Amino acid sequence: MPRTMIEPFRIKSVEPIRMTTPEERRSLLEAAHLNVFKLKAEDVLIDFLTDSGTGAMSARQWAAIMEGDESYAGARSFYRLERAVQALTGYPHVIPTHQGRAAERILFSVATKPGQIVPSNTHFDTTRANLEYDGVEPVDLVIPEGHTPRLRHPFKGNIDLARVERLLAEKAERVPFGMITVTNNSGGGQPVSLENLRGYRQLLARYEKPLIIDACRFAENAMFVKMREPGQAGRSVLEIAREMFSLGDGCTMSAKKDAMVNIGGFIALRDERWVEAARNLLILTEGFPTYGGLAGRDLEAMAVGLEEVVEEDYLRYRLRTAEYLGEKLLAGGVAIVEPTGGHAVYLDARDFLPHLRPPDYPAWALCNALYLEGGIRGVEIGSVMFGKRLDDGSETYHDLELVRLAFPRRVYTQSHFDYVAEVICDLKARAGSVRGVRIVKQARYLRHFTAEFAWA
Ligand code: F0G
Repeated sequence: MPRTMIEPFRIKSVEPIRMTTPEERRSLLEAAHLNVFKLKAEDVLIDFLTDSGTGAMSARQWAAIMEGDESYAGARSFYRLERAVQALTGYPHVIPTHQGRAAERILFSVATKPGQIVPSNTHFDTTRANLEYDGVEPVDLVIPEGHTPRLRHPFKGNIDLARVERLLAEKAERVPFGMITVTNNSGGGQPVSLENLRGYRQLLARYEKPLIIDACRFAENAMFVKMREPGQAGRSVLEIAREMFSLGDGCTMSAKKDAMVNIGGFIALRDERWVEAARNLLILTEGFPTYGGLAGRDLEAMAVGLEEVVEEDYLRYRLRTAEYLGEKLLAGGVAIVEPTGGHAVYLDARDFLPHLRPPDYPAWALCNALYLEGGIRGVEIGSVMFGKRLDDGSETYHDLELVRLAFPRRVYTQSHFDYVAEVICDLKARAGSVRGVRIVKQARYLRHFTAEFAWA
């Protein structure tokens, strides 16, 4: 099997990206108060801020867009999406939403009560925030390997079943359902094995608790299962994905990831218990149940995307992309989270910039340096995102200082990744020149989006 990450598509439509000079980038970044969120996207050459909603749609998806039925109620496009979701998940009840967090908010509003506890491997930020908003305590029970950046394990996204069992033995009456995120985004896009899903399912079943899958990256997870889990190599990704869903009772989905669209999401459920209440809330805040805050054309594109994402040539290229960049970075002496996950590569900024201390915000400094060096935009996952300024003016720091480079689907080619590897490895050789930053202005919550910085 060739090792080249051959892109399984030809390019029919292109969008220019703009080269800038180092001098331009310095003045653009300074005008953005050293915060890459404040840059204009057109001033970025390679945008790895997120893989969410940033992908390229296929010719088939664009063709489906023209077939969108924009009827308010009962649109043909809804039934097309419903059939696609049912065929994939086996869940009969399909509720479209404008994106993943809307699916979470609606499901949690109807399925939880204040004071309850919801376990997961790692709740994504919006999942956690939506539970907390409803007075529910999210608990993260990923296996210990999932917390150790450089420790290799094939399924670092697995949930720790012993800790789940303890939680259920002690507090089952407070647990409305269990959740699991596939792949585990916050843990580095790491997969969950079928064996682990089966074990989790059995534990929950013993206490008659449903399992809800945060399915954003279900296809990447299924491909990892095919490649890594004993006995799975001969099965199709679609079969594996169906088995994953068969172990759950429902899912929330951000279609901006593995449904290959720029906007969209859904809830899908096996039985009726939450369906009516969820649809009523949907009408209140998103729209009528056959469009859920989306246009008919968006539903069409999602239906096609769900079919395309399980194509194995695509998934092989997708996972090889992260692995390929990871190999080049490791060869250049750059420490990353290992093994590479499905949708992103995470740089270890503490290792990259050993001369910077926590108050210099090393991961933020590295993010800035990637932009200055090569027009690359990543996202800090470190002490700006997770630390806090306390009322007495002191700071708390996060235990990891990572920079996430998340890859839009079907957008960049191997030469873009070669360029990124070259920029990062060159920067590594001169890492001592990278300066830290100080926060000069910040919001109380989610400060990373808007904070302003000065050079330390
Ligand atoms: N769950 C997971 C695992 C996610 O990664 C995301 C979004 C969501 C839920 C929420 O979905 O954005 O459609 O409302 N993750 C994006 C990211 C934002 O950059 O990782 P949404």
